[in-house]
Amino acid sequence: MKGLILSGGTGSRLRPLTYTGAKQLIPVGNKPILFYAIEALRDSGVTDIAIIVGDTRAEIRAAVGDGSAFGARITFIEQERPLGLAHAVKIAQDFLGDDSFIMFLGDNLVRGGVDSFVRQFLSSSPAALVLLSEVPEPQHFGVVELEDGRVKRLVEKPKVPPSNLALVGVYLFQSDIFRAVDAIQPSARGELEITDAIQWLVDNGHTVEPHQIRGWWKDTGRPDDVLDANRLMLEALERDVRGEVDEHSHVVGRVQIGAGSRVVRSTLRGPIVIGDNVVIEDAYIGPFTSISDRAKIYRTEIENSVVLEESHIESAYRIDGSLIGRRVQIVPAVNKPKTIHLVLGDDSRCEF
Ligand code: DAU
Repeated sequence: MKGLILSGGTGSRLRPLTYTGAKQLIPVGNKPILFYAIEALRDSGVTDIAIIVGDTRAEIRAAVGDGSAFGARITFIEQERPLGLAHAVKIAQDFLGDDSFIMFLGDNLVRGGVDSFVRQFLSSSPAALVLLSEVPEPQHFGVVELEDGRVKRLVEKPKVPPSNLALVGVYLFQSDIFRAVDAIQPSARGELEITDAIQWLVDNGHTVEPHQIRGWWKDTGRPDDVLDANRLMLEALERDVRGEVDEHSHVVGRVQIGAGSRVVRSTLRGPIVIGDNVVIEDAYIGPFTSISDRAKIYRTEIENSVVLEESHIESAYRIDGSLIGRRVQIVPAVNKPKTIHLVLGDDSRCEF
């Protein structure tokens, strides 16, 4: 079985972070979202993996390399424009050949891996196996209607959802899917939808097996989803302190502190992950916070947030529920009058 990870697309709902970087490389628990997908495939025995890349191809190639760091072999397939999930399958046909494959959307996270789904698929050999999860707002997803436990109808982001069962971004296919993607037409939003291709399989008498997952799953499309995913990942964190903590600091609970990092006169209350060469002085870092390499946090209270590399934070306000990009500076004004002085990129958002 082969693997296909989709890491193209534009990431418009995660702007401004995605103006300068791939959404699949935003870290949760200080690890890029995409890496969890690669590891999940590898852990289920799938090591021959293609990654679909678009505009952010250079950054993704640089981060992933040839896959040897993951114990996998990675091939990159370029998609000129995000023409849909089924289009991505189409352009991967040469790579996939006649093999069955597992397709993983590179911005999805599935706790507990995919091993059991791979085994279920291999033992019952349907044309497709789709994973479903009950969600409160199904209109944002592909939605599946079941009848007597079988897939009857699939609709992409319906205004009036026929059920609350969303398609999780992990699909298993036999090579019949290529006939389906060739048969369908672009949707109203101009994309070749995998949802329509799976409906084609149903309509043409192929078996599409549904499997409702019970553990958590996250589509990290929006900033709040990234913070949720970060919280969920940190739930499973174990304590590992490598950096230096001075005698005036308190580090409580499950906290990871990377090599070369320094904690001075500060209180850290886990679960928290702090990368390498981070400086924390006179600060309070509260639960569910991830701070990436080389960030600096001075005289600040922050919790339930994600801070990316090399940002410098010195804030009079407590920071909560925030997603802060790379090389961001939140620092006190030097000159009077004491006003708020902002240099924010397009689509930034500040709440006071
Ligand atoms: O997250 C689950 C949902 O994913 C499903 O419920 C939907 O049925 C499915 O269509 C998909 O919806 P999204 O709107 O969330 O898909 P998005 O455009 O975010 O793309 C998912 C991933 O695939 C993302 O990593 C970008 C990548 N992608 C997307 C397109 C459209 C590509 O690589 N190429 C593409 O052409």
